[in-house]
Amino acid sequence: MKVPSIVQAEKLLNEAKKLNPGLWVDHSKTAGACARAIAQRCDNLNADIAYALGLLHDIGRRDGVTDMKHIINGYKFMLSKGYDDSARICLTHSFPYKNINAYNGQNDCSVEETEFIQAFLENVVYNDYDRLIQLCDAISFPDDPTYIEKRLVDVVLRRGFNDYTVPKWKEFLNLKDYFDNKTQTDIYQILNIL
Ligand SMILES: [Fe+2]
Repeated sequence: MKVPSIVQAEKLLNEAKKLNPGLWVDHSKTAGACARAIAQRCDNLNADIAYALGLLHDIGRRDGVTDMKHIINGYKFMLSKGYDDSARICLTHSFPYKNINAYNGQNDCSVEETEFIQAFLENVVYNDYDRLIQLCDAISFPDDPTYIEKRLVDVVLRRGFNDYTVPKWKEFLNLKDYFDNKTQTDIYQILNIL
């Protein structure tokens, strides 16, 4: 897979922190740690790859405070480094529900970028890394992992609710079930939050 090493991923995140410091950096570290811990319990996932993908899923925020644009900025940045699988995660992590209108926040992308993201989502078949980082994004506060419901409500309180919020929440809850089944435990147990 075209994914940076752990050392390289940590370096990229540290560089990004200097460019645009914020809570997103610690959120990314939490997501990486969660992804690693869950991947360790899944036969078909590599824990180091999962960690790197989690660390870098929001790397598009290196370019400044943006909303949906961080997705496309991250995608382009990781592609420019030759890390295509990491680039893909930058795009897929916000869309367990494959509809661009389900994004919680402002669409600050150009028309072309918006069309590109929607077409990408329509064509991509999610793999377990896509699913894992979607889940870990949804359970990661900057300090610690939390219950998925808590984080979903937190996002809605900060960013608002739209017609797609309920179907999107259902997809997130499905992801939790998916990884509970895969790991044959409750992922909250793995993450020590029960
Ligand atoms: Fe995130």
